[in-house]
Amino acid sequence: MGTPWNRAADRYVSEWVPRFRPYHVDLIEQLALDPGQRVLVTTCGPGTEVLSVARAVGTTGHVRATDMASGMVDVCAASITEAGFTDRVTCAVADAADTSGGPWDAVVCAFGLWQIENRDETIAAWAKALAPGGKLGILISGPPDADDAFESMNEVLRELEPHYPRPKTRILAARDSLQAMLASAELSIVRLTVVRHTMSFRSLEAFVDAMKEGCTWRRIADQLGEERAHRVALRFFEKMGGDPTQPLSFRPPSTIVIAARPGEEVRLEGRPSVRVPRATEV
Ligand SMILES: C[S@@+](CC[C@H](N)C(=O)[O-])C[C@H]1O[C@@H](n2cnc3c(N)ncnc32)[C@H](O)[C@@H]1O
Repeated sequence: MGTPWNRAADRYVSEWVPRFRPYHVDLIEQLALDPGQRVLVTTCGPGTEVLSVARAVGTTGHVRATDMASGMVDVCAASITEAGFTDRVTCAVADAADTSGGPWDAVVCAFGLWQIENRDETIAAWAKALAPGGKLGILISGPPDADDAFESMNEVLRELEPHYPRPKTRILAARDSLQAMLASAELSIVRLTVVRHTMSFRSLEAFVDAMKEGCTWRRIADQLGEERAHRVALRFFEKMGGDPTQPLSFRPPSTIVIAARPGEEVRLEGRPSVRVPRATEV
């Protein structure tokens, strides 16, 4: 399928995977998976989190890793083969709402939720596909800090290209809006953690290039065209201090959300059994 993510796959792997891996490790640790469990990993991209899940469920577990970009699925399948996990992982091109093969002990979505257009229907499909005691593990970027470079790029885009639609991650990643979104699928948040890891780039230019060539900004840059995308970059440099060659280092927050069916008992990292609160108790 022709998606900007197919063309972005190589640079996503070289630029973003090493920077996102610590967040994936946090998510899978928080999810407290057990050997033998069955896990659906949606929007898997090149599959860093799939490797962590495969290790956690062991040789008796089963993982289905899906993404709608075939280029991403190819990279994921190659890394599964290289790691020797073909006994327990299958990879397929599929929409995030496709829960074939369920019920699942866990459904995982790392850095994919804001990309999904039919988000409510997709979350409802995940909720229906959970086995008793099953957990949904989501990793999203935000809520942004004031000096967050990702957010600064978004702000510049809102300022220079006000008609270009951008998700308002500050609002979307807030606990109340997440809980409201999950409640419509009859799920409740059982744990929410904000984690930060250091990301460094040799220059502001290198950051913008990594955004444009290997990430969500690929589509934006394509749609704006070279001249307007360049104006956005110049304004971003100005906002960040003016010198495009200056190094960039920041600790962007990401939110890990573990949700499950209200009233059920689930295992979490460090807690053998936690009762999932009713939406009204959250
Ligand atoms: C930022 S990447 C995240 C990849 C991986 N989970 C990670 O954390 O490195 C977002 C991925 O979501 C995929 N995606 C976006 N919308 C999708 C949808 N509706 N169904 C399946 N995959 C989707 C894209 O193809 C892309 O690979």
